[in-house]
Amino acid sequence: MAVAENGVIGKDNQLIWHLRDDMKFFKELTTGHVILTGRKNYESIPEKFRPLPNRVNCIMTRNANYDALGAVIFPDFQSWIAAFQEDERELFIIGGGEIYRQALEQDIVDEMYITHVHAQPDGDTFFPNFDTEKWEKEIIMRQQKDERNEFDFVVVKFVRKS
Ligand SMILES: NC(=O)c1ccc[n+]([C@@H]2O[C@H](COP(=O)([O-])OP(=O)(O)OC[C@H]3O[C@@H](n4cnc5c(N)ncnc54)[C@H](OP(=O)(O)O)[C@@H]3O)[C@@H](O)[C@H]2O)c1
Repeated sequence: MAVAENGVIGKDNQLIWHLRDDMKFFKELTTGHVILTGRKNYESIPEKFRPLPNRVNCIMTRNANYDALGAVIFPDFQSWIAAFQEDERELFIIGGGEIYRQALEQDIVDEMYITHVHAQPDGDTFFPNFDTEKWEKEIIMRQQKDERNEFDFVVVKFVRKS
């Protein structure tokens, strides 16, 4: 998840930056695993790229009739977690804002990979505030702005303190 200094993560159901090395990091982290996205975030992915390859694509929606070829639908986090309880693959919640907020409120998150982007863009979707004191922090990657990455960024892994 990539967040600007002002908390913005999206605008008009789109991402607001081009950070190719962050996308690469996301792809490497989630490939071979299970991802859960809110219905709006899923629809923000260009059709030719979805479902995201080599990952189990799961969509959270209140619409039981929602149909997305190649993806599995879930009405809540509990049924999603239960469905993969016996599975060795990791479970990743990949946004958007509504889904991140509820996942943190419901205390179902053990680890977070947050890309802090050195930018202050306009936006309509935000990452929720959380108590950073409750999490161990480790810097995973630092990237300077260049031809592949529109802004400087730092990827931080947060692990919930026990
Ligand atoms: N910067 C980043 O790393 C990053 C990552 C991901 C997304 N984003 C951005 O985030 C934005 C999208 O986020 P968003 O907050 O608008 O939407 P969202 O969280 O992707 O999806 C919201 C939808 O999820 C479903 N939902 C939410 N709560 C639910 C619940 N308790 N039970 C069942 N279904 C539930 C509903 O679908 P139905 O309406 O179908 O019921 C709801 O409309 C986009 O701009 C995207 O680019 C940014």
